[in-house]
Amino acid sequence: MLSTLRGSAVRAAAKQSSAGPVTLIARASTFANVKEGPPDAILGITEAFKKDSFSEKINLGVGAYRDDQGKPYVLPSVREAEQKVVGKALDKEYAGITGVPSFTKAAALLAYGPDSAAIKEDRIAITQSISGTGALRIGGAFLERFYPHGKAIYIPTPSWANHKAVFTDSGLDVKQYKYYNKDTIGLDFDGMVADLKAAPENSIVLLHACAHNPTGIDPTPEQWKQISQVVKEKGHFPFFDMAYQGFASGDTDKDAYPIRLFIEEGHQMVLAQSFAKNMGLYGERVGAFSVVCESAEEKKRLDSQIKILVRPLYSNPPVHGARIASEILNDPSLNKQWLGEVKGMADRIIKMRALLKENLQKLGSKQNWDHITNQIGMFAYTGLKPEQMEVLAKEHSVYATKDGRISVAGITSANVKRLAESIYKTTG
Ligand SMILES: Cc1ncc(COP(=O)(O)O)c(C=O)c1O
Repeated sequence: MLSTLRGSAVRAAAKQSSAGPVTLIARASTFANVKEGPPDAILGITEAFKKDSFSEKINLGVGAYRDDQGKPYVLPSVREAEQKVVGKALDKEYAGITGVPSFTKAAALLAYGPDSAAIKEDRIAITQSISGTGALRIGGAFLERFYPHGKAIYIPTPSWANHKAVFTDSGLDVKQYKYYNKDTIGLDFDGMVADLKAAPENSIVLLHACAHNPTGIDPTPEQWKQISQVVKEKGHFPFFDMAYQGFASGDTDKDAYPIRLFIEEGHQMVLAQSFAKNMGLYGERVGAFSVVCESAEEKKRLDSQIKILVRPLYSNPPVHGARIASEILNDPSLNKQWLGEVKGMADRIIKMRALLKENLQKLGSKQNWDHITNQIGMFAYTGLKPEQMEVLAKEHSVYATKDGRISVAGITSANVKRLAESIYKTTG
C-alpha cells in the first residue's frame, strides 16, 4: 500500500504497520513553507497594553475616538438613526452592487458640496465601499485597470501604514513624496512640491484631504492652491483619501476644502471616503469610492466598470451601516444633531491637545510643544524617538506606536497630567 498521509492518519497507519507491511511516504503540509508574518503594529500595542497590570496604564495606539471617560462612544444621532432603521422593518435583501443609493447620493453631496459643478452636472460615479480601506482598495483596482498613464502612485512620507499594502496588493507601484520635516515637526512643503515636480508626468498622487495620518499636519489653504497648481502642471492624477471629514476642524465643509478646490480648478480625481470616524461607525464598515468624470455620459460608462470590478470582489456591500448613515445624512434634524456631535468630538480632541501642552509647560519642559496644538485630527506626532516611546511603554505604561504618534482620542481629563509627567520624564 502506497499512500500519502498526514497527521493522525500517519500515526494510525504507523500503528497498523507493526501488524503488517505498510509503506509510508509522509508528505509535508502544503503550507509548510509559509513563514509567520510580523504582527500588525497597532494590534501588538493593544496586546502589550492588555498584559500590563498597572491600573493607570494609558493606550494611545488605537485610532478610534474615546469619550472623556476613555470609553468607546456611540453617537446619539447614530443610536437614533439605528432605531429609525429598525422601526422601518426593512427586508434584508441584497443591495445593488454599488450599495444603498440614498446613502451614496448623500455621501457625494457631503464630500463635494451642493454647489459643486460635478454634482450639478451629475458626473460623479460612486459606489458604497467597505469603509475607507475598501474604498481605497476599489480605487487601487480601478486605476490599475483603467488609468492610461502607468501604475505609479505617490504617497506621502510618512502615510497611513496601510496605504502601501493596499495599493501594492491592487497592482500599483507605490512610490513616495516628502511630507514631514522632522526638524520642524511640521510640513516639508518645499520637499513635497519638489518631489511632485520631479515625479514623471501623469503620476497618480495620493493626498490626505484632512487630518493627515499619522502626522496631524495639513497644508494651509494657500499651500493647497500651490499643490493644485503643481499637480495640474505635471498632469498628475489626484487620489484623495478623506477618512476624517469633520473630525479635523469640527466642520465638514472646512475639512472638504481641498477636494472642492481641486474640483473648482478643473481636476479630474478619485476619492475614498470613510464614515468610521466621523459617525463612529468603525465596525459597520461604511464608506464610498467615487470618480469625478468629465461628463454624465462618461459617468455612465465608469459606473458600469465599477460594478464589474466590485462584483467579483465581494458582490455587494452590507446594508445596515449604510442605512444608518443615510438616515443621518438625509434627515435634516438628525443631520444637524450629527454635525453638532462631530464638532463635539473634534473639540474634545482640540482641548486635550491644549491640556497636554499646558501640563508639559507647567512641569517646566524646555522643549517647544507648539506642534501638539498646531496639528489637527485624531493623532499627534510628538517628535519622540522610538527609544523614547519604548521608555514610555516600559517605565510609564503609556502605549503608542514607535514613530512617536499618539492618539489624542485616548487622552482624558483624568489621565492627561500623568501622561504629561511621563513624557516630561522621558524627554526632559
Ligand atoms: C488615512 C486613512 N485612510 C483610511 C483609513 C481607513 O479606515 P476605515 O477602513 O476604518 O474606514 C484610515 C483609518 O485609520 C486612515 O487613517
